[in-house]
Amino acid sequence: MRPRRRFALLLLALLAGCEDSDVGDRRMLVEGDPAAGLQVMRREGCGACHLIPGLRGARGRVGPPLAGFARRGYIAGQFPNRAPLLIRWIREAPAMTPDTAMPGFALTEGELRDVAAYLYRLQ
Ligand code: HEC
Repeated sequence: MRPRRRFALLLLALLAGCEDSDVGDRRMLVEGDPAAGLQVMRREGCGACHLIPGLRGARGRVGPPLAGFARRGYIAGQFPNRAPLLIRWIREAPAMTPDTAMPGFALTEGELRDVAAYLYRLQ
């Protein structure tokens, strides 16, 4: 194949895998209320360990900043960033990665969905 042609194909592949449509798909998988999710995160103190845009005082540095989380490909660098895995991560991160410093949270299914809905708003 001529190099020029190969480049055009590569460009097409990149456009087809465009991140925005990915983010849209992920959000649709979560039926939650982002505003309620923010309240849950405030109550649970997620901001002690994470920088979280939109949550006052959430400037922790123990965990990664959650700014732009919707665009991140992997959760904790290991699990594909999809709603079911994100929900499981928040509920029981230590069961997924035993040596992580991220604790598990005993939240209801609805609360977990609300938190996920908020995190997927962070572009
Ligand atoms: C005691 C500190 C601590 C608290 C509290 C905490 N986390 Fe974490 N979190 C971490 C650490 C550390 C990681 C990185 C985990 C790893 O890589 O193993 C992490 C990772 C994450 C990730 C994956 C981020 C990424 O970019 O891969 C998400 C999402 C997350 N936390 C959400 C939350 C939410 C929501 C809450 C509150 C309900 C919360 N965390 C509370 C420490 C914490």
